[in-house]
Amino acid sequence: FFGLPHQAPHERVLIAADAASGLRTMIAVHSTARGPAFGGCRLWAYENDLAAHHDALRLSQGMSMKNALAGLPFGGGKAVIVKPKGDFDRAALFAAFARAVDSLQGAYITAEDVGTTTADMRGVQALTQYVSGIPREGAFGGDPSPKTAWGVFVSIQAGAKMVLGRSDLQGLKVAIQGLGAVGWHLAEFLHKAGAQLIVADIDPAKTAKAQAQFGATVVGVEQILAVPCDVLAPCALGASLNATSIPALQTKLICGAANNQLALPADGDALAKQGITYLPDYLVNAGGIISVAREYRNEGEEGAVMAEVSRIAERVDELLARIKTSGRTPAAEADAWAQSLLVKPA
Ligand code: NAI
Repeated sequence: FFGLPHQAPHERVLIAADAASGLRTMIAVHSTARGPAFGGCRLWAYENDLAAHHDALRLSQGMSMKNALAGLPFGGGKAVIVKPKGDFDRAALFAAFARAVDSLQGAYITAEDVGTTTADMRGVQALTQYVSGIPREGAFGGDPSPKTAWGVFVSIQAGAKMVLGRSDLQGLKVAIQGLGAVGWHLAEFLHKAGAQLIVADIDPAKTAKAQAQFGATVVGVEQILAVPCDVLAPCALGASLNATSIPALQTKLICGAANNQLALPADGDALAKQGITYLPDYLVNAGGIISVAREYRNEGEEGAVMAEVSRIAERVDELLARIKTSGRTPAAEADAWAQSLLVKPA
């Protein structure tokens, strides 16, 4: 129950419930070797507690890897809240969640994630200091998605150079799955750099806007993973790269923001066999956590944060250099690299 076959054991998992607010939360602390476990809180209509638990375990391990490769003095953790059925008091739910976070006495620091907002985190902040991702008057902070998008953009630039031999992105065909907070900012950066965009989203208003603003080609959500393109950027939900989608892919490079893009570790091997270079999600999508971690440490300054996020490109270069000597797939190499960094930073 507590582990997954392909996962290192977690240090701690807190399962907390509060009958009055309907809270059911799992807070997974994967590693605190580098520092307190840092990772957002997801509110989702999970089918059952086991599905929520599974998600918390996977996501928290991903945060350990992400924070380690980003060089942050934080470990990996993640919280999930099972969305109560029917109407519920949101403020009471997050107050109860804040008490659960606080009970860990700083072993876990939370922030917003899918389904949670800065307003929820403000409520959490009233009851615990172990929270970040909150805009403050006259100080750096708030929505991390533009920083995440910038990290993915510089990674696409690095990958296009090393894998596709392209010195710029002019005319490069990039397919974006999901035009949400990150996908939209990514589309903006790519359009400015001269890339040709192919987009899909379940929300037709977003794709219509991309068509009007960026001249993007719109395809259906069923088609986006199989369109011929130079780069595929998954920016919707996880597990989009799986046994069904991989055989149909017609891309050379994959680089996107979505967490847990590979349904299973073996999918990384399947991509490599098809001659597709996959830049691991937790390497390229660290811009957001770099931003909220700086905010938490009160070191926020826009220029410095962007410079730190831009350095993700150097790590993409290093990963692509490492696989030439190790012969591993990029996914396996990044896993090994991140594991080697799960120690207290010097
Ligand atoms: P979001 O919820 O703003 O955007 C997701 C978009 O995907 C929405 O526009 C939604 O309509 C669309 N979508 C959902 N299912 C789809 C499908 N089957 N096909 C096409 N489009 C679909 O989320 P956000 O913040 O942009 O995050 C995107 C991904 O990046 C998530 O997996 C998230 O965990 C990950 N991520 C986000 C970070 C951030 O800073 N926001 C940081 C690191 C990772």
